[in-house]
Amino acid sequence: MSITLGIDIGTSGTKTIAMDETGRILASASAEYPCDYPKPGWSEQDPDLWWSATVATIRDVLAKGHLKPADIAGIGLSGQMHGSVFLDENGQVLRKALLWNDQRTRVECAEIEQRAGGREALVRMVGNPALTGFTAPKLLWVRKHEPQIWDNVRQVLLPKDYIRYRLSGTYATEVSDASGTLMLDVANRCWSGELLSRLDIDRALLPACYESPEVSSTVSDIGSEATGLLRGTPIVGGGGDQPAGAVGNGIVRSGAVSATMGTSGVVFAHTPEPGFDPLGRLQRGCHAVPGAWHVMGVILSAGGSFRWVRDELGDLEIAAAPARGVDPYELLCEEAALAKPGCEGLFFLPYLTGERTPHFDPDARGGWIGLTVRHTRSDLLRSVLEGATYAMRDSLELIREMRVELTEIRVSGGGARSNLWRQMQADIYGHEVCTINAHEGPAFGAGILAQVGTGGFSSVPEACDATIKVVSRTPKQEQVARYYDRAYPIYRSLYTNLKSSFQQMAALDEA
Ligand code: XUL
Repeated sequence: MSITLGIDIGTSGTKTIAMDETGRILASASAEYPCDYPKPGWSEQDPDLWWSATVATIRDVLAKGHLKPADIAGIGLSGQMHGSVFLDENGQVLRKALLWNDQRTRVECAEIEQRAGGREALVRMVGNPALTGFTAPKLLWVRKHEPQIWDNVRQVLLPKDYIRYRLSGTYATEVSDASGTLMLDVANRCWSGELLSRLDIDRALLPACYESPEVSSTVSDIGSEATGLLRGTPIVGGGGDQPAGAVGNGIVRSGAVSATMGTSGVVFAHTPEPGFDPLGRLQRGCHAVPGAWHVMGVILSAGGSFRWVRDELGDLEIAAAPARGVDPYELLCEEAALAKPGCEGLFFLPYLTGERTPHFDPDARGGWIGLTVRHTRSDLLRSVLEGATYAMRDSLELIREMRVELTEIRVSGGGARSNLWRQMQADIYGHEVCTINAHEGPAFGAGILAQVGTGGFSSVPEACDATIKVVSRTPKQEQVARYYDRAYPIYRSLYTNLKSSFQQMAALDEA
């Protein structure tokens, strides 16, 4: 039996699983941590929280699975993408990490585009336009606003790569996560010397870059002492949470597309070529499958909108859940199910942390529009689920427009667990959705990458074929889907109509 660990450094917590070569989960553990929002639009996290959670969950998994350290053939890492960890010459963290949903870098994004010679030139160099959440603009922001910190920066790492460093003492990353830094030449799968020189960023600040299943490092004495793992245990490149999650969903060939609702919502498709869209309407990157690429649309607050509703309006459900032995989300979904599809013309815009795809607008705001006295709490709840799902449809429409092959939609995350939300997705996407046997997402994908890297399988698709299968199909309901087809253009028009008001609201805050 070949056992690997998959470790996912998420935004709200870290999850570690142990799996075997059949895809069986032997043990799993997770640990949560908070996020800091020091100013509107800012989002930061202390990397030490990730490390403590990693140590705790590895130890937990070894204990729960009755596993000996020598049983672990390899480790795969996955994690929230685009975050930046700034380290000094001794590998010490210089400031809290700026996260993927941090929106402070609008000015730096414009500067990057200008230094690159325009948006199209930038997209040619690194596959993507400058987006506020990406890593490169964060480097420029720290360089400009915190020069005393910048002067001491000797290495910049992505979140999961910081954990690799703590486990192994090695600075390394891999192409799928590096694609989200805006510094990788995505087509050629290496750092973009051209953009780095235009931005005046020293290549030495960036780690060595591997393919996702490649062994990048091994557990060090220090890593071993902290976690209980054996010194020398191989650590493969792994993947950004979205590409790793796509591997965990079996999105490793053209045709199948995933729609995942975590805090963010992501529509992800495999592509056999790097591709090029001068407008950069979807994010492009190297897939965690060597020789393959991906396109994805990212909405910043999908499950995040529902979590906000739970926290702000869900007191009843939060109080009732323990007695019923269920999660408050389940009760919120029961309440939402009492409302009719479309909520009698009530719409929710899920732009609670600005929006990435398709608007690229850090100032975008959320809100309910279309309220009448007839609307109930059920409508408020249901419309939040619908709003997040319309936002996901925006990305699916772009995928369709770009003629990326789409034969199957695999749903996962919170949006797949609820019957109501799963059916809603089929109806709003206008396409059957299916679920698979594996529910561990990025951690599972990371575990698969470690299986491949340590010789359990000869390729990522082969590993996915052996471990992943479709277990349920939810067809669209024709009549409801037709209704949503009529409602969707109204949803689309709301952002356009409100865009300038959003800008004025943001300026109000700045004054
Ligand atoms: C992907 C993205 C998010 C984060 C957090 O581009 O920004 O999905 O990876 O999960």
